Amino acid sequence: MGYIEATRRQKAIFLTGMSGRRAVVPFHANELREAAKKRLSKQAWAYLAGGAGDELTMAANRDAFSKVAILPHVMRGDASIDFSTQLFGQNLVFPLLLAPIGVLDLVCPEADRVVARACRNVGVPFIFSNQAGTPMEICAQDMGPAQRWFQLYWSKSDELVLSLVRRAEACGCGAIVLTVDTTLLGWRNRDLKLGYLPFLRGMGIAQYTSDPVFTALLDKGEGAAISGTPRPGVTLHTIGNLLRLKANYPGGIFKNLLRKTPLEAVRLFVNIYSNPALSWEQVRWLRQQTTLPILIKGILRADDAHKAVDAGADGIVVSNHGGRQVDGAIPALDALAAIRKAVSKPYPVLLDSGIRSGSDLFKALALGADAVLLGRPYAYGLAIAGQQGVETVIQNLLNDFELTARLAGCSKVSEIDTDMVLRT
Ligand code: FNR
Repeated sequence: MGYIEATRRQKAIFLTGMSGRRAVVPFHANELREAAKKRLSKQAWAYLAGGAGDELTMAANRDAFSKVAILPHVMRGDASIDFSTQLFGQNLVFPLLLAPIGVLDLVCPEADRVVARACRNVGVPFIFSNQAGTPMEICAQDMGPAQRWFQLYWSKSDELVLSLVRRAEACGCGAIVLTVDTTLLGWRNRDLKLGYLPFLRGMGIAQYTSDPVFTALLDKGEGAAISGTPRPGVTLHTIGNLLRLKANYPGGIFKNLLRKTPLEAVRLFVNIYSNPALSWEQVRWLRQQTTLPILIKGILRADDAHKAVDAGADGIVVSNHGGRQVDGAIPALDALAAIRKAVSKPYPVLLDSGIRSGSDLFKALALGADAVLLGRPYAYGLAIAGQQGVETVIQNLLNDFELTARLAGCSKVSEIDTDMVLRT
């Protein structure tokens, strides 16, 4: 299908409106979020929409965009457009990728596959999450030759890390995005209030349960207990959740009913999934292990950007994880200019956290990003209308961007520079 040009879609939407039909997927980000909320359980909503602490950073991510004004040029005398861009020798039709979002199965079954197909159809790369509900190989198969990257979390087992990287290489991922801001889980009040962590229900751990190194550790009995925590008491709730875990685990409820493996896999996951001792040394080591480009996701300071370059990273993603990790952290957009100054073009600098519209994308590019990652809005589209919903959210954002850029007198990405914006 591919991208449909803004004016064509605009016409189609208005003509359809003549017959009294309205778009199912809201255009406005706030309405999109509210429509998704109505379709999700309170646990799914808390996990997806929530942030760390008082969610000040989550709100600040949005405010930061409203404090940047676009300075449009008029009458440039050229109607041709090409917003394609190159990253690591890969051609992107627009400077946009879908951010890795874990545990999308909270939204609908086989969610990662649905999103993968949507990306293939629209022509926007998908970054597979380390916490996906479907193994990367299956999503890659669904995507055919379409572009995908793999997002990596560094676990306590370097062997597991390497195994995930090898699998990403083998299934055609074009880059490794190492997320470094989540060596511990942020203090997320909404999830804490509900006492709900989806991984404990066997959700979002498919990259692990499909991994030969992980399953070998399981076979060795490494999932016998969760270190340092008391076992929960047995109540009707515990039994219900155990059954749910068995149902979520590969093979389904009938195959898993009498097996201990699902519970052991969750225990093993909890023991090894994060590595608070992660350091730049490991990035250097990883650089030796693969020829794929490596991006470091979660950079908010110029000095850390320098360290990423020194450690051999090929790019960075300026991100505060959508305000889910350090509440009070600087909005990603506000961190961008200093980082761009520290690592000058053509070193790839991407950004996420707060992108909700085409004009947000424009502003991020103008302030120095080479591309942006779209996060929560595509999950909201997924909740509202499945694959069609994700495609529509991407299309709407790109159409909005296309018109914003053209109306600001820019016909290519290279024309969207600091001269096009003003901090107000
Ligand atoms: C995320 N994000 C994330 N990042 C990552 O590197 N690996 C992951 O598995 C996840 N999982 C995840 C789950 C949920 C529910 C959310 C909302 C986010 C962070 C994501 O990639 C991105 O940085 C943020 O979503 C950007 O913020 P906004 O634009 O969504 O507010």
